[in-house]
Amino acid sequence: MNNNYDKIANHYDTLSRLVFFKSQVNAQVNQLPYIPKDSSILIAGGGTGWILEEISRIHPDRLKIVYVEISAKMLALSQKRDYKNNQVEFLNMGIEDFNTDVLFDVVLTPFLFDNFAEERAAKVFQQLNGCLKRDGLWFIVDFSLNKVNGNWWKWLLLKSMYCFFKLLGIVEANQLVNMNPYFLHTGYQIVEQRFYYRSFIKAVIYRK
Ligand SMILES: C[S@@+](CC[C@H](N)C(=O)[O-])C[C@H]1O[C@@H](n2cnc3c(N)ncnc32)[C@H](O)[C@@H]1O
Repeated sequence: MNNNYDKIANHYDTLSRLVFFKSQVNAQVNQLPYIPKDSSILIAGGGTGWILEEISRIHPDRLKIVYVEISAKMLALSQKRDYKNNQVEFLNMGIEDFNTDVLFDVVLTPFLFDNFAEERAAKVFQQLNGCLKRDGLWFIVDFSLNKVNGNWWKWLLLKSMYCFFKLLGIVEANQLVNMNPYFLHTGYQIVEQRFYYRSFIKAVIYRK
């Protein structure tokens, strides 16, 4: 299983809205005003690409975006989006295989890491850390469970989601990896942290 969402690309946004209403969208959209103008942005696992339209509402031009998506179907949907006068390079590959000499001002990983087993999460974290400029911003949004917000229904919903994706043979993870220690041990600072959907969704902006 390589976390490729081809099988549900055409239905992903509908499913997300059915279960989480607009929480997954709001968690990401509320981070976007932190994107500096004229910046270079790396998006890993952007799904159907609706985020490109939201970004372009704020910055209609002068952004250089690299959009890496492992699902060819998700990528095809993303290419049809209206990203105004921004420059977008679409790459159909796993982020693990992405190489660059250019460092980015901003990295976005919305609902990417909760697909990964710990080994892949650690590897992708190191790789993306290497792609981000000093003082650059990393926007991460994922599901979140801990002793404080770990209500039974969140565990149940998470288990059901992982079962559903396992049945489809999509997602490798069986449990969430807490990425916060990776950021803190690497010296990142939290710029903003917000919770959605009764704290089941956590959106954090880190500064390198
Ligand atoms: C849970 S979906 C989230 C989609 C989108 N970020 C959203 O919130 O609507 C995860 C996306 O990441 C993509 N993905 C999974 N593993 C990936 C990888 N290693 N590299 C790039 N994209 C990946 C999947 O194909 C899928 O489109």
